[in-house]
Amino acid sequence: MPSPLDDYAARTPGSRTWYERARAVLPAGVSYGIRDLAPYPFYVDRAEGARVWDVDGNEYTDYWCGHGALILGHAAPPVVEAACRQAARGSHFGFAHPLEVELAEMVRRLVPGVEMVRYTNSGTEANMYALALARAFTGRTRVAKMEGGWHGGLESLNTAVHAPFGMPEALGLNPHATADTEALPFNDLDAAQRALARGDLAALFVEPMMGAAGCIAADRDYLEGLRELCTRHGTLLVFDEVITGFRVAPGGAQQYYGVTPDITTLGKILGGGFPIGALCGRREVFERLDHRRFGGRGDRAFQGGTFSGNPVSLAAGLATIRLLEGGEVYEKLDRLAARLREGIAAAFAEHGVAVGVTGLASAIGIHFRSGAPRNAAEASADDLVVARRYFDHMLGCGIVFLQPASPHLFLSAAHTEADIDRFLEVTREFAPQAGRSA
Ligand SMILES: Cc1ncc(COP(=O)(O)O)c(C=O)c1O
Repeated sequence: MPSPLDDYAARTPGSRTWYERARAVLPAGVSYGIRDLAPYPFYVDRAEGARVWDVDGNEYTDYWCGHGALILGHAAPPVVEAACRQAARGSHFGFAHPLEVELAEMVRRLVPGVEMVRYTNSGTEANMYALALARAFTGRTRVAKMEGGWHGGLESLNTAVHAPFGMPEALGLNPHATADTEALPFNDLDAAQRALARGDLAALFVEPMMGAAGCIAADRDYLEGLRELCTRHGTLLVFDEVITGFRVAPGGAQQYYGVTPDITTLGKILGGGFPIGALCGRREVFERLDHRRFGGRGDRAFQGGTFSGNPVSLAAGLATIRLLEGGEVYEKLDRLAARLREGIAAAFAEHGVAVGVTGLASAIGIHFRSGAPRNAAEASADDLVVARRYFDHMLGCGIVFLQPASPHLFLSAAHTEADIDRFLEVTREFAPQAGRSA
């Protein structure tokens, strides 16, 4: 029986050539392992709105949206204009400049838990500095995170990301770096209570919606409970809103849930499609980064970086958030996402295929299992074979998301009702054959 991938190979000879060249100079031919596709990735030539085109001229409707960063779609004209204008006036100053202040004021106005901001170049760096800041502020070393929580590649938090959770995530990670890290099951307040009650945790890191684990949203009373417990036990509550920031609402998941953390980390949408990260939060905590107040090396925390506060990223971020702050974009995104969620669930239900569709707002996870998972351990029992076949089918029909075995979808303002119709039509074509390998 012909596979959708036969067609893929026939349509992508140029990508295959780039892949062969890439393999010689880039491990696995990519810049990030999760972008590798079987039998080889397509290589993108250009992107606009909700579409990307590969080097062979094939068009794909993109539900990955630059790892979720492109909430306005690819190359949104106001963002491109702002970035180009800024690049012509200087792409990198290495000195203080007004855009740093303007974006920080905007973030403070929109995100409930934010009084002060420092910029980084990625979400990983934001979490790295947030952890150091929490340790500096509390005088404690230990940290808690969630099983399945992904906070980027920093060693201290790059543990218990994938089941089974007791194993190292990769070769080369220093076991001493994770010796002070404790992983907790998500949405389990009793487990958090036991860990926090010891009174030795500097910070508890949590994504209000766990992204990499499959877009699994927290229960509201779980986050409320964490807030109360962290306050009671002197631990800083850190919301990693690298995905949910500006996606769930202008004020992120903390606005949606009405729960305010001590520190928030941001990335992705904040830079409007250009590299960025930020750590933000309570003034009293962030003053530990103020070397004028805390002069001695032993008193203050450190944050810095050559490209931190990069003006092109900040200009693109400002242009993006100005379009988001009114809230109309979210009305459209959330409506399309609700249709997509319901349509996917109905398409599979009709053929008796077990599926749980998860996520918040315009971030969607698809789990081939019975019911929606409430934590990463549950999601680890998903049927990856069906997920992979679904991915191949969609790719063969010009619809792309990542990752093949763990579908995550992000919508952008550039997606249309017609895109959703097409997505559901192609899903309905697949659904009758989905059960075959299950
Ligand atoms: C929740 C979360 N935190 C942190 C990161 C790391 O951000 P970056 O890839 O920009 O380093 C990611 C990346 O996907 C993420 O999803």
